[in-house]
Amino acid sequence: MHIKISAVTFGDEEIEEAISCLRSAKLTMGARCLAFEKAFAEYLGAGNAIFVNSGSSANLLSWFAISNPMIPERQGRRRLGPGTEVIVPAVSWSTTIWPIVQAGCVPVLVDCDPDTLQMNLDAVKAAIGPKTGAICVIHAMGNATPMAPVVSLAAEHGLWLVEDTCEALGTRHGGRYTGCFGQIGTFSFYFSHHISTIEGGMAVTDDDEIADLLRSMRSHGWSRHRTDRDAIERRYPEIDPRFLFITTGFNLRPTELNGAFGLRQLPKLSTFNRRRKEIGKAWHEAFTVLVEAGKLSVMRTTEDTEPAFFGYPVLCRSSAEKDKLMRFLEEKGIETRPIICGNMARQPAFEHVSHRVAGSLAGADRIMDTGLYWGVHPRITDEEVDYVGNTVRSFFAA
Ligand SMILES: Cc1ncc(COP(=O)(O)O)c(C=O)c1O
Repeated sequence: MHIKISAVTFGDEEIEEAISCLRSAKLTMGARCLAFEKAFAEYLGAGNAIFVNSGSSANLLSWFAISNPMIPERQGRRRLGPGTEVIVPAVSWSTTIWPIVQAGCVPVLVDCDPDTLQMNLDAVKAAIGPKTGAICVIHAMGNATPMAPVVSLAAEHGLWLVEDTCEALGTRHGGRYTGCFGQIGTFSFYFSHHISTIEGGMAVTDDDEIADLLRSMRSHGWSRHRTDRDAIERRYPEIDPRFLFITTGFNLRPTELNGAFGLRQLPKLSTFNRRRKEIGKAWHEAFTVLVEAGKLSVMRTTEDTEPAFFGYPVLCRSSAEKDKLMRFLEEKGIETRPIICGNMARQPAFEHVSHRVAGSLAGADRIMDTGLYWGVHPRITDEEVDYVGNTVRSFFAA
């Protein structure tokens, strides 16, 4: 058997939509991307969705938007500037943190809970200081960070709240979808994620002004895709409206091929996630004996959360045992990965990054040293679910 981390989830529908897109010769961002944005916003119940070429780009756009002079400052939240601190979980993805650094801010790493893999809320509270301007949550591994306390901390201190939801599309928490609690939520549609647009990402926001800023910044800083385009263009009659630049920006646009995939994948998301949940539940049951014996720990779903498993993470008793389990599983055809980037403070890139570590990162170290995950993609069969369950149990029986 070969249980891969991820598998193709697209079929004839996506391929036919992509071919008809190629035949139309309309390949740069257009109607399909816009239709996908609309459907995605409707799915989440979000006000606006801005489609980009990756989850990393959605993060880049978000942090540069919050640092942009045009950002609307509301409810005590101030535009981020050089040296503003942004609180992030230490167990993170690289391009969750790099855009914060690239925007001139200072990431402040806080510890994570080895049980849930989410950022530790006491650590977040303790890390808030006079320079704090934002909190960046990551809903790791399809679980959810408990949002009620984060939302109230952010409101109390006038902080921006950005949710990196790249690993948790479709996760519900407190009756809502993750990614919809803060000012901006970001998503990834990379091949191995909950749905795939080959490469792709989305930034969602309920704030229409932020949405227009994101639209301008996604495309060179011009006015073309903004909802207030006409009003802006009337203000500058002497400038050709097709090339009217109102802010700095990037080119982070997706192509229509990505839009074609997104449109055909999104209606399948609930079915995919149902299967992810079923598989996760089956493994939870299969490993109850190991968990009760203290041999293995599995990710605990946070309260009031319906997870959309990104992978199936487990922690071993020691680093040596984790290495052994990883080797054993790979030999048995079960692909494994470390849990995200582990404790980012230990990654060599951080030697060159101005940052602050707030408190102990013992939980993040434990996750990095003893954790691993394997795939929970919807193409895994019942037979493969049993195979993985039996293989893991046989490792600990030996
Ligand atoms: C938490 C998190 N943020 C951001 C990203 C980046 O997404 P992308 O690969 O689409 O750039 C990933 C990728 O897996 C991720 O896990």
